[in-house]
Amino acid sequence: MKTQVVIIGGGPSGLLLSQLLDRRGIESVVLERKTKEYVLGRIRAGVLERGLVGLMEEAGCADRLHAEGIVHDGTLVSHGDDMFRIDFTELTGTPVIVYGQTELTRDLYDARKEAGGSIEFEVDDVTILGADGDAPHVTYTVGGEARRIDCDFIAGCDGFHGVSRQAIPLSVRTEYEKVYPFGWLGILSETPPVHDELIYANSERGFALCSMRNSKLSRYYIQCSLSDSVNDWTDEAFWQELKRRIPGPMADKLVTGPSIEKSIAPLRSFVTEPMRWGRLFLCGDAAHIVPPTGAKGLNTAASDVHYLYEGLCEFYKAGSSTGIDAYSQRALNRIWKAERFSWWFSSLMHRYPEQSSFDLKMQISELDFLRSNKAAQTAMAQNYVGLPY
Ligand code: APR
Ligand code: PHB
Repeated sequence: MKTQVVIIGGGPSGLLLSQLLDRRGIESVVLERKTKEYVLGRIRAGVLERGLVGLMEEAGCADRLHAEGIVHDGTLVSHGDDMFRIDFTELTGTPVIVYGQTELTRDLYDARKEAGGSIEFEVDDVTILGADGDAPHVTYTVGGEARRIDCDFIAGCDGFHGVSRQAIPLSVRTEYEKVYPFGWLGILSETPPVHDELIYANSERGFALCSMRNSKLSRYYIQCSLSDSVNDWTDEAFWQELKRRIPGPMADKLVTGPSIEKSIAPLRSFVTEPMRWGRLFLCGDAAHIVPPTGAKGLNTAASDVHYLYEGLCEFYKAGSSTGIDAYSQRALNRIWKAERFSWWFSSLMHRYPEQSSFDLKMQISELDFLRSNKAAQTAMAQNYVGLPY
């Protein structure tokens, strides 16, 4: 088999890239290790920056997002019972859209299907060969049968645990990592959200976040210990702890109910450099991870897709490799800023096991500054709604 771009991974990065390329007449094959149902079963953050919305529009996949997504003009930040609001639209002219990553991924799968796009599910043993030369190809097995695809380029969109990053020799690769000393316990419940905007809560018992998927489906998180397991937390214990971490009036009106999903996620910051090796390009979680505070995971994946898509279009339509040559640096320039924001927002909102009384004072005074200073709020809002591509 031969195609122009082999895309490894059928998560949001791979699907969006494939759909965008197709609209410009560039052919790709997506190789996904799992089934479509498995990919759509993952629950991930759902806050979309304007840039990602623009890409979904360009991909012809934004109708449902515009119909069902919820425009959020701001967010609440609380500290104990004190609470203040950061108005994104007033400060930056741009809101964000709350729309589940699962729904966005489903829209992309539907679009690929409608366009007759080639996606192979349940592939195993994906191996990248010749990426540093002129004849890149990918081998894999499906149902026990060995296959090979020759191509011009390979996009490694296979997430943090994929094979693409590992295909880049260690002598070329530098990895930067920070692991946080806590996790997030999250639940999904068929209850109305406690408030019509998100609430990021700093409390002396640890961080909490009130989020949502729609007017009948809520997503809540609490900071937990890395040694906790989901079975340690009954729904009742979760709700009780959440109520203790958010301002009293919010706790009073919180509607509780049975959880329909409950999981624990560790928090990590991670970047690998460079994001290109010969004809292999890394995109999204394959190249970087952010802690979820600020919901930058999907949005950073989208900016990578934007730069790579632009570079590939330049290559195929104008015969210029300027865009693909600049890909790694362009993508990383923006990634590091999103890494900084996610790290900063995480540091501001969580309790750290080793935090000294001085560290705590610093956190409280920073929160106080954010509450009262328009420049600080503007900087926060600019980062939250997404820095320009
Ligand atoms: N071969 C083929 N597919 C693979 C392989 C492999 N060896 N390894 C992983 N995959 C698939 C996974 O099954 C997954 O469906 O690659 C896909 C990667 O998808 P994501 O992990 O969702 O990564 P990405 O598309 O970059 O999306 C970034 O998703 O992980 C969140 O926080 C992240 O929101 C962000 C977004
Ligand atoms: C979510 O809704 O899952 C969510 C929202 C905002 C975040 C993180 C997660 O910062």
